[in-house]
Amino acid sequence: MSDEIDEYFDTALALVKSAGNLMTEHVGGCKTFELKSCAIDLVTEVDKNVEKTLIEGLSKKYPSHKFIGEESVADGVKCILTDAPTWIIDPVDGTMNFVHGFPHSCISLGLSINKEVVAGIIYNPLLQQLFTAKKGKGAFLNDRQIHVSKITALKDALVTFEAGTSSDEEKRKVVFENFQRIIKNGHGVRALGSAALNMAMVALGGADANFEFGIHAWDIAAGDILVREAGGVVIDPSGGPLDILSRRVLCASTKDLAEELSKTIVQYYPERD
Ligand code: IPD
Repeated sequence: MSDEIDEYFDTALALVKSAGNLMTEHVGGCKTFELKSCAIDLVTEVDKNVEKTLIEGLSKKYPSHKFIGEESVADGVKCILTDAPTWIIDPVDGTMNFVHGFPHSCISLGLSINKEVVAGIIYNPLLQQLFTAKKGKGAFLNDRQIHVSKITALKDALVTFEAGTSSDEEKRKVVFENFQRIIKNGHGVRALGSAALNMAMVALGGADANFEFGIHAWDIAAGDILVREAGGVVIDPSGGPLDILSRRVLCASTKDLAEELSKTIVQYYPERD
């Protein structure tokens, strides 16, 4: 299985690197976009082309593999996770950043087998950051192995979280309340504008925890294995095991920090993927 994963990963990495060139053509921003679910949920031609490139390349080599892709789901394809090898794709995570030219956007690609993410790639071609992880083999930023921090208490923790791309009023109230709670109880709050890159910061040890309600499987699949392989924990924000289709995630450098953060925040339960 490990050899198979290595082979799948190498194929995917070559495709992701080449698809990254579609993003670097727009370093200063991508001013042409369309709206999806609301006025702050954006999509560009680059999102669509990156997803097409990855799905075409991977399905040509592995015809039996399945896909969950952000833009395919937006176009009506069902979001179904089975035990089969499934590539979970966010073609441009941080599309709002990408539109504005704020250089924190990435391609996020996770491979799930038997409903467990076993490989992940998070590639920001704009800043040349390549985060990778394979089951049992560690997490890396470019060629350097990375590890989570050793922070165990919220009072010492830098926490990333996002307002997200929904304009739902109830969700906004939860975001504002949680912002206050982290400011009051933690070291500080950061938001990169990309769920995958926020998780990558936890894997890197630059941030100590991250949580978000309303994200999708494609935002967190690669981040899930990256954080776990860097030594961290990834759970449901209520404290139970992560359910990748639940649209809820919390990750942290340590179990103690994850548990404290879970008890500190207000919970929110969006409709599942
Ligand atoms: C979004 C970004 C954003 C997060 C949203 C995601 P997208 O992904 O990761 O940071 O707050 O929840 O939907 O739409 O740019 O691929």
